[in-house]
Amino acid sequence: SKPLIFLGLESSCDDTAAALVRIGSDGAPDILASVVHGQAMLHADYGGVVPEIAARAHAEKLDTCVREVLGQAGLGLADVDAVAVTAGPGLIGGVIAGVMCAKGIAAGAGLPLVGVNHLAGHALTPRLTDRVAYPYLMLLVSGGHCQFLIVRGPDDFTRLGGTIDDAPGEAFDKTARLLGLPQPGGPSVEREAAHGDASRLRFPRPLLDRAGCDMSFSGLKTALLRARDQIVAEKSGLTRQDRADLCAGFQAAVCDVLAEKTRRALSLYMAEAPAAPLIAVAGGVAANGPIRAALTDVAAEAGARFLAPPLALCTDNAAMIAYAGAELYAQGHRDDMTLAARPRWPL
Ligand code: KG4
Ligand code: ZN
Repeated sequence: SKPLIFLGLESSCDDTAAALVRIGSDGAPDILASVVHGQAMLHADYGGVVPEIAARAHAEKLDTCVREVLGQAGLGLADVDAVAVTAGPGLIGGVIAGVMCAKGIAAGAGLPLVGVNHLAGHALTPRLTDRVAYPYLMLLVSGGHCQFLIVRGPDDFTRLGGTIDDAPGEAFDKTARLLGLPQPGGPSVEREAAHGDASRLRFPRPLLDRAGCDMSFSGLKTALLRARDQIVAEKSGLTRQDRADLCAGFQAAVCDVLAEKTRRALSLYMAEAPAAPLIAVAGGVAANGPIRAALTDVAAEAGARFLAPPLALCTDNAAMIAYAGAELYAQGHRDDMTLAARPRWPL
């Protein structure tokens, strides 16, 4: 088959992104250009992503992003073969902005349109970066998601479990806020935890006593709040060391929960006797050193390869959407002007 170039658009949370991915005649993907415009500055004063502000910013930025990637790749719309767009799940205003933009381009340039599930984009990233073979195990762990998937195809996933409340990244961000550390919370909590004593304060390991791969992280935030207030009440303030110990205790709890649940997910996956066993991670939390180390150990124990794609492709981006669109396209998926934006869309 001849090489095909996919334009991908992503706007489901607080990153506006576009990318061009070329699929060679041998099926090998190549990222020709990829831009991500984060909106962190716009939401900084609000302590979270404001959906209305996000939607407006996406609507303003999407076409610029498309122009940028075409410029970087030295291509025009005439060189593009299909448009792939995140059609959910996510903040609906942003998703609508992306879907409308993609429809406009597809209609204007006479191109096929493919709606992509944002989670499928994350889940297929190991194939974009490393051409990993199906089936593989995936842990999506970010500010918005936390789930285990056996990935069997671009439209074929088995969900083994996930968080029943907060995502770990959200818990890291709240922890940082409660301790007066800068956002995003993950990196600041990890930095503090590095010189803290994880055993000083006792944090729970939620749901470890329950069978299966479901997880819970909202209780950790409550435990942190209680431990913080107790220290403050005793000493009328937090020292640098107190803060570090709180971060270390919290991070060790997240780490233990993820490690144990990954152990269980791996044993379900390995029971299928995959030819080339592999577990991959995606999402911002995958940047965490101790969490990565724990997952690497658990994978080795189970006899599976551990893969963490480059961070820029682990976090929200449009290259993963273009690539997932390409795999769906190859399987015959096509959407038309009736493509709907879906706030909820389980895999
Ligand atoms: O994948 P991502 O960029 O966005 C989505 O949530 O989709 O993930 C962002 C999340 C934030 O909650 C951030 O605090 C967390 O990933 N994060 C980390 C680290 N770096 C980013 N969490 C723990 N440790 C880190 N080093
Ligand atoms: Zn995401």
